[in-house]
Amino acid sequence: MGDIQKNREFMKSNFAQMRGVISDQQKGKALPAFEKPTENGKEIISLPKIDEMKLEPVNLINLIQKRKSHRKYLAEEITLKELSFLLWTTQGVKEIFEVKGKPYVTKRTVPSAGSRHPFETYLFVNNVESLKKGLYRYLPLEHKVIFLGKITDQEEKITTATVGQRFCAEAAALFVWSCLPYRGEWRYHKMAHKPMLLDAGHICQNLYLGCEVIKAGTCAIAAYDQEKIDELIGVDGKDEFTVYLAPIGKIARD
Ligand SMILES: Cc1cc2nc3c(=O)[nH]c(=O)nc-3n(C[C@H](O)[C@H](O)[C@H](O)COP(=O)(O)O)c2cc1C
Repeated sequence: MGDIQKNREFMKSNFAQMRGVISDQQKGKALPAFEKPTENGKEIISLPKIDEMKLEPVNLINLIQKRKSHRKYLAEEITLKELSFLLWTTQGVKEIFEVKGKPYVTKRTVPSAGSRHPFETYLFVNNVESLKKGLYRYLPLEHKVIFLGKITDQEEKITTATVGQRFCAEAAALFVWSCLPYRGEWRYHKMAHKPMLLDAGHICQNLYLGCEVIKAGTCAIAAYDQEKIDELIGVDGKDEFTVYLAPIGKIARD
């Protein structure tokens, strides 16, 4: 089978082949963590709480009508409140759903097959109120961010890792979603992979709509150098790897 045909096969559902497959969940293996553990000694920053934000009501129909990809941003900072809103919009946890008195899944602002939520959100911050430049990771259970460190020559490295898409480096921040495939495989075994990629689309659509609310813009990014981005966010490329990116920035109002 050629490469193209193999990739087409990946786009199809293989749930009919589920019979006879025994997942780790069925074997009674431990539930994977809902979020990565925090690294010792790193600074953790609390984000404004969503229910204290007093957001203006919006017209969803207008937002959907206006949504488009933006690749030109103003050199204006994003406030911490706005970043907090976008993180909640894309991966915010609304509830920890329990089965037999034990945490089982997180319910979030976006749907996910089996509520597995197999992603982590990394942020390259460039121009966000009160945050130094560098790499962060969102902690959805706590609604906080952890500062992972400065990146030397951040703009250059991001531009190279996004195959020359400099607007990704010049944006106020760049969202990078990594996937931890075992979170899905634990339940769905070899059926997990297609649904996990579908899940990523919902996250980015919520980012588009969230950006419309705060007069910012974004652009989905699938053209990137896998190894370079994975190295920049510090993941192994095997048990965790980048699947999608999106820069955010203020836009000229129309
Ligand atoms: C999965 C996906 C990947 C994309 N990757 C890129 C990209 O790497 N670079 C880019 O400039 N735009 C990218 N886009 C944006 C599309 O080019 C854009 O959505 C399309 O041209 C339609 O324009 P609109 O979003 O303004 O309606 C991507 C969009 C999607 C949904």
